[in-house]
Amino acid sequence: MSEPLILGIESSCDETGVAVVRGNELLANEVASSVEEHVRFGGVVPEVASRAHLQAMIPTLKRALEAADVDASELDGIAVTAGPGLVGALVVGISSAKALAAALDKPLYGVNHLVGHVAVDLLDHGDLPTPTGALLVSGGHTSLLVVDDIVTSIAEVGATIDDAAGEAYDKVARVLGLAYPGGPVIDRAAQKGDPAAIRFPRGLTTPRDLAKHRFDFSFSGLKTAVSRWVELRRRDGLDVPVDDVAASFQEAVCDVLTAKAADLCTERGLTHFLIGGGVAANSRLRTLLEERLAERGVELRRPRPGLCTDNGAMIAALGVEVVRAGLRPSGLEFSADSGLPVSTVLV
Ligand code: KG4
Ligand code: ZN
Repeated sequence: MSEPLILGIESSCDETGVAVVRGNELLANEVASSVEEHVRFGGVVPEVASRAHLQAMIPTLKRALEAADVDASELDGIAVTAGPGLVGALVVGISSAKALAAALDKPLYGVNHLVGHVAVDLLDHGDLPTPTGALLVSGGHTSLLVVDDIVTSIAEVGATIDDAAGEAYDKVARVLGLAYPGGPVIDRAAQKGDPAAIRFPRGLTTPRDLAKHRFDFSFSGLKTAVSRWVELRRRDGLDVPVDDVAASFQEAVCDVLTAKAADLCTERGLTHFLIGGGVAANSRLRTLLEERLAERGVELRRPRPGLCTDNGAMIAALGVEVVRAGLRPSGLEFSADSGLPVSTVLV
């Protein structure tokens, strides 16, 4: 049988993404971002994001089909993000996907955004060896996963107990007076700074914390420590060494993420590991994780940075896996689920 040809639609946050994938081959990946409209608010404004999705959806869809040189009638199915994410943003993608599926009489699959961040790597590195460990680091989530089967068996073994890693980047950027989203800006500033300049706290790493939170994360204490450090400098009339603060903050985040990821591999005997989500585009995280996993004989798979942030390709790639596994389509009745757990791959 030929490989499934799937259209993927993503609208969970501020990116309207539409992509076409055949098997593990990415044919088109169009993304329209409303990030510029949120910059002055320092974070995503849900109402603004929903309206932007409504405006961008049809043109982005047309561009994707054109770029893939595919007629909608040729598609084997349509995959759309069912959650988690902002409800008002999700419903735009879901409604569009339902309309398209009904008009074309194609099967529709409502899939999990978080699992999409894992699945996207198949487009870069082919089928996934299992079991594989995975670190999911985005603006809303930070989780350690063990993937036994990408469509039927994903276990979350740890997660953040407060802020997500990306959220910490965005908040620290704000404290430093840098632009939103903070991740890429801090990543660049950190390359000019000294990661050892300031010793910021590593959340949930004391023996006592580890007893209860072996694979969990906490970034709110780190964010507060950075704010306090910056405030004290300003109060004393001293310059804030932005590059050093960025590098030291980033080191604290990456140190904890990579140490726990490596420990998970050792504890579970995993020889393969994968990262996904917007923060997986981070240059320091990519290098440090590769180093630490190599020391333990674990092979790291990293999607290209452009596929780490939200896009339709991740949803189409997951749609392909769901079709390959022969799972039943979702039908036209399902709704957006802002809190969809990572273990629910297909609604
Ligand atoms: O996965 P994503 O695009 O959206 C969500 O599902 O949340 O992740 C967005 C997050 C933002 O917090 C952004 O600051 C962060 O990913 N991010 C980065 C980098 N690029 C994006 N964080 C650190 N370094 C980066 N290079
Ligand atoms: Zn995401």
